Amino acid sequence: MTAESDDHITLGIETSCDETGVSVVENGRTIRSNIVASQAELHEEYGGVVPEVACRAHVEAILPVLEEACEVAGTSLEDVDLIGITRTPGLIGSLLIGVQAAKALSLSLGKPMMGVDHIQAHLFSCAFAAHTSGDCTIDQIPFPQIGLVVSGGHTGLYRMTGHGDYERIGSTIDDAVGEAFDKVAATLGLSYPGGPSIERAAKDGDPTAIDFPRPMMDSGDYNFSYSGLKTAVLYHCRDRWDVEEDPPPENAVPDIAASFQEAAIDSLIGKVETAVEEHDARAISVGGGVAANQRLRTKLNNLVRERNLDLFIPPISLCTDNGAMIAGNAYYLAQTQDPDRLDMDAVPTR
Ligand code: KG4
Ligand code: ZN
Repeated sequence: MTAESDDHITLGIETSCDETGVSVVENGRTIRSNIVASQAELHEEYGGVVPEVACRAHVEAILPVLEEACEVAGTSLEDVDLIGITRTPGLIGSLLIGVQAAKALSLSLGKPMMGVDHIQAHLFSCAFAAHTSGDCTIDQIPFPQIGLVVSGGHTGLYRMTGHGDYERIGSTIDDAVGEAFDKVAATLGLSYPGGPSIERAAKDGDPTAIDFPRPMMDSGDYNFSYSGLKTAVLYHCRDRWDVEEDPPPENAVPDIAASFQEAAIDSLIGKVETAVEEHDARAISVGGGVAANQRLRTKLNNLVRERNLDLFIPPISLCTDNGAMIAGNAYYLAQTQDPDRLDMDAVPTR
């Protein structure tokens, strides 16, 4: 199957961290392909992303992932009408691989290129997912909203008054929440990335077994802190076992995982709840890899039910880093903005 000539095809490219993602989106709403090459195995032995390793892996993955995305979509590069590319924030070496690929495609195909903000794309993916699934159109999404972006690199709370109109009202003062899941998983001898393995282990554990701290719950602002919680888990283990040598015994892991997960999520929920109240929000949007967590989803669902709000969380494939959210956001931006020029920079911090 090939695209009809009047279909608008957006190619979305994402390389800001350790996932090489390319997606083909038709008319801004139908995801024809969404291919992600994860580097998780490469970074596993380090318990976190190594920037230089990530950058080299993107170089190797970008062309095969691009070819696969076109093949699965039944699209040739000549059919592409717009190239969306993550330009900020992220690891500079990783961002540059995607940005250079997008520039090369734009120049050689003579097609426009739109730089996309990765955080905005995570927030936009909530509206995009509702739109692609037919739940509501992008124009029907209610505002103001509170946006929560929770990933391996970011933990931020945003007041959103429209798509792309957002103000950061809080963020982590140290580790990102996903990073805390990854580091605690390493302490517990669980595999990387830590989020899914902690969640799996926590299923057999008691979330009230250990009273880990809920960091900054009463700080009076919207900031988060995860470094102290991570250290509390380490000290809990160190006091009982020689964790420098071996991970804690298998039968102790579920309670620690469940108690850590509960503390990490409680501090997210506490801030979201206050923000919703103080900003008269009508909805909550959540993006980033940690949004895949079922315990977080359950607690958010309870919160919106109690307060009669809408909740927008994308399916897991659109929560973690992917090219579809970049294509969707680029298409939306292109309705009102000129494309970027070839001298566009990759910018590591916003
Ligand atoms: O958004 P993402 O794919 O990449 C970044 O921009 O960082 O998020 C990856 C992060 C990792 O830290 C991973 O451990 C976490 O999201 N994560 C989870 C879950 N799935 C992924 N954290 C908690 N529970 C999960 N189920
Ligand atoms: Zn991300």
